Amino acid sequence: MSKIILSGDRPTGRLHIGHYVGSLRNRVRMQNEEDYEKFYVMVADAQALTDNFDNPQKIRENVIEVVLDYLSVGIDPNKVTIFIQSEVPALTELTFYYMNLVTLARLMRNPTVKSEISMREFDNSIPSGFLNYPVSQASDITAFKANCIPVGADQLPMIEQTNEIVRKFNSIYGDVLVEAEAFIPKTAIEGRVPGIDGKAKMSKSLDNCIYLSDTKEEVKRKVMMMYTDPDHIKITDPGKVEGNMVFLYLDLFVNDSHFEKYLPEYKNIDELKNHYRQGGLGDVVIKKFLINVLEDVLEPMRIRRKSYEDNIERVYEIIKEGTKSANEVANKTLEEVKKAIGINYFSDNTFLEEIKEKY
Ligand code: TRP
Repeated sequence: MSKIILSGDRPTGRLHIGHYVGSLRNRVRMQNEEDYEKFYVMVADAQALTDNFDNPQKIRENVIEVVLDYLSVGIDPNKVTIFIQSEVPALTELTFYYMNLVTLARLMRNPTVKSEISMREFDNSIPSGFLNYPVSQASDITAFKANCIPVGADQLPMIEQTNEIVRKFNSIYGDVLVEAEAFIPKTAIEGRVPGIDGKAKMSKSLDNCIYLSDTKEEVKRKVMMMYTDPDHIKITDPGKVEGNMVFLYLDLFVNDSHFEKYLPEYKNIDELKNHYRQGGLGDVVIKKFLINVLEDVLEPMRIRRKSYEDNIERVYEIIKEGTKSANEVANKTLEEVKKAIGINYFSDNTFLEEIKEKY
């Protein structure tokens, strides 16, 4: 079966290196290396509203930020259809029919939804729109018959829920929808990059992120205050590598050529770690090295971003065109879905024939 790839992000803030490692890097690799029929990336503004309905301005502002982040990491609008969720009405319509195929209890059991509910302290006042966002996500995926979903590991329950809806739909109404498979990063740490403070996940609200759009000065400042090993006080003290954010980030980004370029005294990351463990290697040396390694990744993004920012009308056209072509595909699936259910009264003559025969 040919591959149809789809992924998306909620526009609730600028994207950071956690997003990059967890999913964006994978998407760019797939875009350039894999064989696929279609590749969609969606700005999930309607889903973002399910827990930001009282702050729509935030969503509106971040739509363009997220699109610029996509373009700056190297997502190529000639290969990938970038579109805005809320501007594809078929998605909302599909959601309404899929809602019949999911119980309230099943939605409450979705582990990602569960942890989000407790995080947001909804208690007993959960908006029903929020509880239903996994159903809407099933629409996002099935509307495009997408079968390959590159996402972070936290999205696995969504794909599972989608596939349950697909099976239920197909068994009741006939084979229309396609099951999907999630592609998640290989290591757990890639799926859950901790913040520069060493705390849980990189998150906007904890102010512990390195954003893809940070300036060189911001990156420097953030790396210099990064959590390392609190017991590594004097340079000569032995240092700990585990739980040390500088080494954790190096593991995510470094390769041997970085050593040749920026730290030729060492051949590779193992030599650097050994020296740190033994003592005699200061935090400033490893932090400066990490700044260079990160800049190798971020500087090309900044350049690309700047060229798109200087052509912002072109960016507007990219998402407008992408949304138009997304609508064509989603409308076609919606037609098939309505036909399968038998609520396609005016799409052809069959309904008219039926009532004429009856009366
Ligand atoms: N739930 C995803 C997130 O929070 C965003 C998303 C919405 C998505 N619809 C999707 C991801 C469809 C993949 C496929 O990051």
